[in-house]
Amino acid sequence: MRAVLLTMLIGIALSCPATAVDDFSFVVLTDIHIKAGNMSFAKNLSDLVSEINAIEPRPAFALFTGDQTEMGFEDDYAEFNKIASGLKMPVYNVAGNHETKWSNWGKAGPKRFFGQDPYYSFDYGGIHFVGLDSSMWLEHHGLFSPDQLAWLRSDLDAAGRDKPAVLFFHASPNNLPNLPEFLDLIRGYNVPLVLVGHGHSFVTYRHNGTIFQMTKGAMNDTGGLRIYEVSGDEIRGYTKLGGEERKPDLTIPLRVKANPVYLLQPRAGSKADGQVKLRAMVIRPLDKIEYGIDGVYKPLARSEDGLCEATLTVDGMPGWHMISVRATDTDEMEWYDSALVRIGGGDREAWRMRASGAVQRPIRAHGDRLYFGVWGGDVYCLDARTGREIWRRNVGSDVISEVAVDNGLAYLGATDGRVIALDADTGEPRWEYKTDGPVQASPVVGGGKVFIGSGDCSFYALDAKTGKFRWKFEMARMTQSKPIYMDGAVFFGAWDQHFYALNAKDGSVRWKTPIGELIYFSPANSNPATDGKRIIVTATPWPKRNELPDVNCLDAKTGKIEWTHRCIAESHCAFNTASIAGNRLYVSSLNGKLFCLSMTDGSEVWRADIGQETYDNSPVFADGKIYAGGLRGGLFCFDTSGKREWAYSVGAGFTFAKPTVWNDLVIAASTDGWVTAVKR
Ligand SMILES: [Fe+2]
Repeated sequence: MRAVLLTMLIGIALSCPATAVDDFSFVVLTDIHIKAGNMSFAKNLSDLVSEINAIEPRPAFALFTGDQTEMGFEDDYAEFNKIASGLKMPVYNVAGNHETKWSNWGKAGPKRFFGQDPYYSFDYGGIHFVGLDSSMWLEHHGLFSPDQLAWLRSDLDAAGRDKPAVLFFHASPNNLPNLPEFLDLIRGYNVPLVLVGHGHSFVTYRHNGTIFQMTKGAMNDTGGLRIYEVSGDEIRGYTKLGGEERKPDLTIPLRVKANPVYLLQPRAGSKADGQVKLRAMVIRPLDKIEYGIDGVYKPLARSEDGLCEATLTVDGMPGWHMISVRATDTDEMEWYDSALVRIGGGDREAWRMRASGAVQRPIRAHGDRLYFGVWGGDVYCLDARTGREIWRRNVGSDVISEVAVDNGLAYLGATDGRVIALDADTGEPRWEYKTDGPVQASPVVGGGKVFIGSGDCSFYALDAKTGKFRWKFEMARMTQSKPIYMDGAVFFGAWDQHFYALNAKDGSVRWKTPIGELIYFSPANSNPATDGKRIIVTATPWPKRNELPDVNCLDAKTGKIEWTHRCIAESHCAFNTASIAGNRLYVSSLNGKLFCLSMTDGSEVWRADIGQETYDNSPVFADGKIYAGGLRGGLFCFDTSGKREWAYSVGAGFTFAKPTVWNDLVIAASTDGWVTAVKR
């Protein structure tokens, strides 16, 4: 209760008048998608640059909220920088998903090519501006990792709770899985305006007293921008289309009103089996008050003294759910307070631990230990039975590589370009090898070598004991894959529209098979799977949608395509890795269908509903069951006829990592840092 009172007092304090600001203006552009050689988008940006330079008085600076480039390639950045440098004012950039999804440089690209940190802040005219990096390595989704949120809190503290802060980043609010956590963080500060991109249109969202505004994509039609004039105690906003006059938009007070909504019960992290009592305080009458479970809302009544009560039950999955109270003002401002709580599932959950950063790749079980790395650079070794930390070592940059364990060593790649071997028992460093690009791929060990791809577009073989360079194979684009080592060869797909088999001895090409008509459709999003004779490769079937396959079966000896199949589900299976058991193949589609195909010819045996989207994931077959992870934290168990046996929710973060089966447990990890072990 003391904490609630303190928060309320801070809220009341925030309704004091704002500090004085200078008169100035700034402009916001977004989503130009410059692709080197694509003249139309370049011309749009050039024309907008000329129009901005003609604005009187001259804007103090320009903010770009992501997707400046189409694919984050070096020549895309170069072309953007060349045109943007025509602006007669400072330029501030943040990354969008298009900078980091396909680029060999990933989230390291914006710093390298924009010359700015991925997240940073500056002060101008009495306002604190904060650029945030909502991009992910290799994904289109938005995310603020726990380490960046910790930085944001300390940055806003240093600026002062009272100072108006304008935040800018790429992901739209509904593309951020941890929006409740982000809203909770900025609640204690004065953030009147948040600028976002991604949706390519002029849109306003209203959350917790903060105005979120999206800007029209500069690539669309003649492009658009927003102009903001700061004066007195407000920001006057305008929208402007390329070649047209500006139009007045919202005027935003520089002082955020106090959030009137307090979720008193359940508290974050609490656990209950059966019904849960919800109690909330809404300190002034509002137009509409609701409570929600995972974003599905029902009406909530408020008594005269502001107390709101309800009894919650979860009909669907037991496990961790986001409980929210939402109150809507007459001006459509939505006020929230949320808590992640466990409802039901007490008999299914074995243990749960929170890592220091996002977990993006599967957890490796080896013996009775689990190994994985996280954003922010921590590598963990846990006791698989209890989840207890045995050791943890920070390697200095985000880890999105799976860990391979062999020879008493734990091998992984780091996004600063190093391939690292740690002592598997103690975490002590044993050797490292520096490549020339971020390592976004995962290692495999075989025949005394460790094999791994790097963002320098090379595929490396290093001595497994010493880390000494053995050979490298150069490609036109990188691989992000976890290779297969088999029959003296390594197998992997790359972003250059090829699937490769290289001789492990010297890196010479055993065979290579072209797959994908354009780079977007390369056999690179997923990992290959094998039954020892054949290799299953998934690849995006577009642009011909239903005419091209999403599942390809290659002869491991020759690379010849034996059969292909298209899993028609108004979606496709290309981002997900297949799993093979006997003569059956299991793979899931983006829209959450689980397919069972025959390994003989790819024909469909059955399909089932997972009940959640699946992305960069893979079903796992173990002891006659299939375990599938959904993007939104769902963990699902099916029998071999496609009947769903149980489901459990591990939380609100994105799950890109396939589940790990260890003894009687199945372990799921998510981008909010939670690792959860569930009894099978
Ligand atoms: Fe975009």
